[in-house]
Amino acid sequence: MDVIQALQQRRAAKAFDPNHQMAPETRRVLLENAALAPSAYNIQHWRVVDVRDPALRQAIRDVAWGQSQVTDASLLLVLCADLNAWQENPQRYWATAPQAVQDFLLPKLDEYYRGKPQVARDEAMRSLGLLGMAIMLLAQDLGYDSCPMDGFDFDAVARLIQLPQDHAIGYMIAVGKSVGTVWERNREPLSHWVIENHF
Ligand SMILES: Cc1cc2nc3c(=O)[nH]c(=O)nc-3n(C[C@H](O)[C@H](O)[C@H](O)COP(=O)(O)O)c2cc1C
Repeated sequence: MDVIQALQQRRAAKAFDPNHQMAPETRRVLLENAALAPSAYNIQHWRVVDVRDPALRQAIRDVAWGQSQVTDASLLLVLCADLNAWQENPQRYWATAPQAVQDFLLPKLDEYYRGKPQVARDEAMRSLGLLGMAIMLLAQDLGYDSCPMDGFDFDAVARLIQLPQDHAIGYMIAVGKSVGTVWERNREPLSHWVIENHF
């Protein structure tokens, strides 16, 4: 499947086959390739909680407006970010870059993030957005459907997954075999959202 087909076919699935199980190899291909998504400074802030325990799935569903995708998807991924990843031995993120690049980036990184928690959070969320889109396109390519989800109580889900203090939840993605229908697509025309040169 090429990228344009994957984009055109992807929809936010509203119901999944609860009996379908994803093969471990498919899960591995999905997650390993998703990590090829870009991230700011190659920090790879993402920490993805793969919720497998059915009781935990149900508990999350209870704080996610009862949405059935949470329990019925083959994979339920909670996309989290480590907000301090920028200062956790960051040299390793550019280990394959030329020495001159490494020497330039290390002080730049510190200057960019230190004492700026909002910047750290924004950067992490940007990276989670890109990871999530990669997951959804890969799911499509592997014959699956997906649904990005933020219709849930973030504090309650944080407690349920025992989210560390210095981490944040971006959103969840459910991946599975869609059953049922979705309504017709609805998008604003380009003229509404593409602005030439300035607002
Ligand atoms: C950040 C985010 C959160 C979303 N949360 C939910 C959700 O909780 N439940 C749901 O059914 N769809 C959710 N959606 C799906 C959107 O409603 C959907 O992408 C949008 O209506 C466009 O439809 P399409 O993806 O099928 O083209 C979410 C999408 C995004 C990007």
